[in-house]
Amino acid sequence: MKDTKQQWFKDSKFGLFIHWGLYSLLAGEYKGTKTKHVSEWIMNDLNIPLEEYKKLATVFHPMNFDANYVVRKAKQWGMKYIVFTAKHHDGFAMWHSKSSLYNIVDATPYKKDILEELRQACDAYGMKLGLYYSQSQDWEDPNGYMNRKDNSKKNFSTYLHAKCIPQIKELLTEYGDIALLWFDTPMGITYEESKEIVSIVKEIQPNCIVSGRIGNGLGEYMTTGDNFIPRLPYEGDWEVPATLNDNWGFNKHDRNWKNVDEIIRLLVKINSRGGNYLLNIGPNANGEIPDESINILDQVGEYVQENAEAIFFTKRSTPYLYEMDWGEMTQKDHKLFVHIFKPRKRIELLNIANRIKKIYIVSNNQNLKFSTSYSCEKCSALEVDLPEEYYTKKNYSICIDYDEIDPVFEPFID
Ligand code: GLC
Repeated sequence: MKDTKQQWFKDSKFGLFIHWGLYSLLAGEYKGTKTKHVSEWIMNDLNIPLEEYKKLATVFHPMNFDANYVVRKAKQWGMKYIVFTAKHHDGFAMWHSKSSLYNIVDATPYKKDILEELRQACDAYGMKLGLYYSQSQDWEDPNGYMNRKDNSKKNFSTYLHAKCIPQIKELLTEYGDIALLWFDTPMGITYEESKEIVSIVKEIQPNCIVSGRIGNGLGEYMTTGDNFIPRLPYEGDWEVPATLNDNWGFNKHDRNWKNVDEIIRLLVKINSRGGNYLLNIGPNANGEIPDESINILDQVGEYVQENAEAIFFTKRSTPYLYEMDWGEMTQKDHKLFVHIFKPRKRIELLNIANRIKKIYIVSNNQNLKFSTSYSCEKCSALEVDLPEEYYTKKNYSICIDYDEIDPVFEPFID
């Protein structure tokens, strides 16, 4: 069982992933060809020569990037931490790196240290800052791994000690507290190499969490596959990295946005199984967040704020959950929350009737009428009548406040 030993991570439930880099300029298309892969992989997918790809840096000038706006929005959406792509697989550093000139300050006309701006904004808003760092793949360094290419002649150790580790040290010494380092695609990295990175992270910032994809089982929490939710609750710390459409980086052709109801449901589903939802935005080349993302997240954020009591500081539901077509449950000591995603008039739950103190709507504390009945010693039924004005409502939650609860409960779908 994975344990980060960081209470903030266990309680966070919702985080913002930001994929932003040179690939955002191409927005999913190079010289008239659309990439079929995720947009931040375009250099690899369309075999763009490094010298060509590097030219993107000379025109990267994200005038409209506003770190305060991004962090303020994340806060408004109820997110508790941000993970920003300091360096993605393309090898480009979004901070003023001393170990590689291929960085936002030295290689672009923009010249500002984006990470520093984010750092300051996170401090101002009390937001945890985590950084994505591609430790194995680096398509700029001659010795970094590259997907679909012959890596057999590469001297990975040279890259590891000349670029990767020096850069990780920079990130951990020059930008204050880093809440977590998000590693990805371990590829050929050996146990010793992963271990070396972990030791350095822990030596410099013992509280900085190492994500699941560092490789060789050394991560401090479980990172699921992209957009993948485990069917059953998982006991340790875990997180689902997820997209709002089908790309991480900005892709102008991707209109396949998930809808608000879907995202709310996914968030609660993940939380009810004990995980965190790390949901992505991909700013464009000007540094703007796509309108669709803002739109969706503004509405999701309303749900999160109104139902905060039923989301944050919850634990995975015990003993296990049934897939209900209309809702999900989250749980805290002496409180069981039922999130209702489809309009209904009443709710019936079995084996949950013991010593209920009160039942209320989370967003406004309105008390609800309920009745309990027993069909046999161990079989109880709880019926909650929802107020008439809620008959047509969706996306809200109620709280069942109880003294004691049966060890096994079974939501009953009428
Ligand atoms: C995948 C992709 C990568 C993305 C990541 C996010 O591993 O390779 O582009 O950053 O998922 O989870």
